[in-house]
Amino acid sequence: MIDGFGRIIEYLRVSVTDKCNLRCRYCMPPEGVSKLSHSDILTIEEITRICALLCEMGVRRVRFTGGEPLIRKGITDLIHNLSSLDNAPEILMTTNGVLLAKSIEALYEAGLAGVNISLDTTDRNEFLRMTGSDLLSDVINSINAAYETGIRIKINCVPITGINDKEIPKIAEFARNRMIDVRFIELMPIGCAAGYDRVTGEGVLHKIIHSFGLSEGDLHPDYGEDSQNGIPKGPALYYRIKGFAGRIGLIDPISDSFCDKCNRIRLTSTGQIKPCLYFSDSIDLRKLIRDGCTDEDIKEAVMRAIAAKPREHRFGILDGNGDSRKMYQIGG
Ligand code: 5AD
Ligand code: SF4
Repeated sequence: MIDGFGRIIEYLRVSVTDKCNLRCRYCMPPEGVSKLSHSDILTIEEITRICALLCEMGVRRVRFTGGEPLIRKGITDLIHNLSSLDNAPEILMTTNGVLLAKSIEALYEAGLAGVNISLDTTDRNEFLRMTGSDLLSDVINSINAAYETGIRIKINCVPITGINDKEIPKIAEFARNRMIDVRFIELMPIGCAAGYDRVTGEGVLHKIIHSFGLSEGDLHPDYGEDSQNGIPKGPALYYRIKGFAGRIGLIDPISDSFCDKCNRIRLTSTGQIKPCLYFSDSIDLRKLIRDGCTDEDIKEAVMRAIAAKPREHRFGILDGNGDSRKMYQIGG
């Protein structure tokens, strides 16, 4: 699948629920959010059907997100369904890690190839303040349990000025002794995040250099497995750091837009195909499916969504076209 700007679309992000067992303050209001009923959400069979068709069309990687994907019943079956396809994609997940320790073995056996675990602080009280739950130890246990299985692990941290920016070196520590990549993601001004002040990748590097007593020469850009002919495949810019087993990655959607390399589309939990995280435009596959459409109808609708994929997001430019949906609804 190629969009109107010549970008090859081969990466699908699937939000399997908009519900979450945490309330990260930059993501969800404390009272919670979901007004969706069970029937609003695609069934596991519907998600399987859409993913299978998209794999026929050229999707090579599927990432399950939420809300929190591990609170969705049937997620292990869904992974199993996709890994059993003839043209099975690489299957990945982004989770807050709270429930991961319990299910990692089953997920791995079902065909999960990698997991991104979100962690914004290593301080128990700060974790409670940031997420509304005293569950830091569960996340740490999950990181350790996942590492034991040998599955590929990344840690995602969203640093916010005056809230958890002092934690940057402690989160980076996860990459020191183990082969874990730690990525720092610039906060995007979506929903609850609007009032917070992001830390740029440059700010993150500065903090890391200072707190580990490094010099600029100790950091080496590394595109590694995420590169194709030296061009990064994903949005992260990675660095190898002297004395670290894992890499430090920077994802800066605002200060360093990677839209020109964007290879992704999104499927929301209610069955909307979204060609861009930023814009509200989407195509309703749920209605099509529930009206009894054919596989060809679905493929044709997906092609329409891809043809409508915009050149770039407009974060930082107020133009009124931004999606009013929140991160937990879109899936990050
Ligand atoms: N900007 C950047 N990242 C965000 N996430 C949630 N909201 C935002 C935002 N506004 C991150 C979470 C998690 C991933 C799913 O998305 O911290 O790591
Ligand atoms: Fe849940 Fe992730 Fe949002 Fe935190 S950032 S409330 S873990 S969906």
